[in-house]
Amino acid sequence: MTSLQTSVLATPAPAPSVALDVARLAQLHKALADTLRLQSLRLLKNESFGVLELCRLLDIRQSALSHHLKVLAKAELVAPRREGNSIFYRRAFIADDDALAELKRAAFEAVDGLEIPPAQALQLEALQQERSELSLTFFNKNAEQFRENQGMIVERDKYDSSLVDVLEGLGLAPTAKVVEVGPGEGQFLLELARRYGEVIAVDNSADMLERSRATVAGYDNVTFVHGEAADATALLAGQADLVVFDMVLHHIATPAATFRDVAELLQPNGLLLVIELCSHDQDWVRSSCGDLWLGFEEGELDQWAASSGLQFEQSSNLALRNGFQIQMRLFRKPGVRSFIDAFSPHDQRANATTHN
Ligand SMILES: C[S@@+](CC[C@H](N)C(=O)[O-])C[C@H]1O[C@@H](n2cnc3c(N)ncnc32)[C@H](O)[C@@H]1O
Repeated sequence: MTSLQTSVLATPAPAPSVALDVARLAQLHKALADTLRLQSLRLLKNESFGVLELCRLLDIRQSALSHHLKVLAKAELVAPRREGNSIFYRRAFIADDDALAELKRAAFEAVDGLEIPPAQALQLEALQQERSELSLTFFNKNAEQFRENQGMIVERDKYDSSLVDVLEGLGLAPTAKVVEVGPGEGQFLLELARRYGEVIAVDNSADMLERSRATVAGYDNVTFVHGEAADATALLAGQADLVVFDMVLHHIATPAATFRDVAELLQPNGLLLVIELCSHDQDWVRSSCGDLWLGFEEGELDQWAASSGLQFEQSSNLALRNGFQIQMRLFRKPGVRSFIDAFSPHDQRANATTHN
């Protein structure tokens, strides 16, 4: 990769081993022995929520919820994360060498079998809708100036050449079917349209979609879908060779659910390339860039991918301006492609893809 600092092919460091002791065992059982705490864990199955959001979902006062969250965090069942002025909670990652790993997995599995009560389900839907509208309103209002604001985070020219290098390294066939979610003004879409047989551009902002359409004018291999990743499944379920999210996931209300939609789109052996901000604390991006999330920890992305059946393949980090850092993460949907696809003479991927 070019002038940017990169650390290619980094595999996450193994977690330190966590021994079993009677205090941890007791904490775990204590945390699980409460209806509200179990309901909180159920809600956190797929997404992270802020404390106030959880209060709304569970219809409980903040002081009472804080106590429950403390107990869950002490038992290492949830993990807090600061997002600007708010604290968000997600389910904790379970390290394989945690002596309580099996118990925790069994607890999560049991919790996931619980029905979400109708009142909570209604609030959940409303909340996700509100998050989506926040992001959508931003892009519909700021299509003109978003590039300028984004410039405070990335120097697009340098970053683009790195993306092109990564794309070349994937070794996809010229006949490949590729989806880009959130193409924005369409610079990367242009690279995809130049290289691959069939490209689908999906954006939930009509204004942004028009901008990307103008950028790739002249290419007749691009189909435009006004909507979200799930809306592309009507065209390409189980057939995509590559799905790309370039600085989009932090605008999406339900990133974990989006990974599941991608898994539906991909064919066996298909790839998901996520280019995304690393977790940061610069709250101003919410109002200036329409961000819903202040980046993501790599473990978060990996966990969502794994629970959608996608395997981590490679990662690379780019150092950028104003303290922001971008991570590129590549995931693969495991499986065997059909006989005809696998032996297509145009398909160079099996030989060209690099693994770690
Ligand atoms: C920050 S821009 C990134 C644009 C482009 N990929 C880039 O890196 O320059 C985010 C884009 O994602 C789109 N977007 C946001 N939420 C989306 C969603 N849920 N589904 C599809 N597109 C979305 C926005 O409309 C916008 O075009």
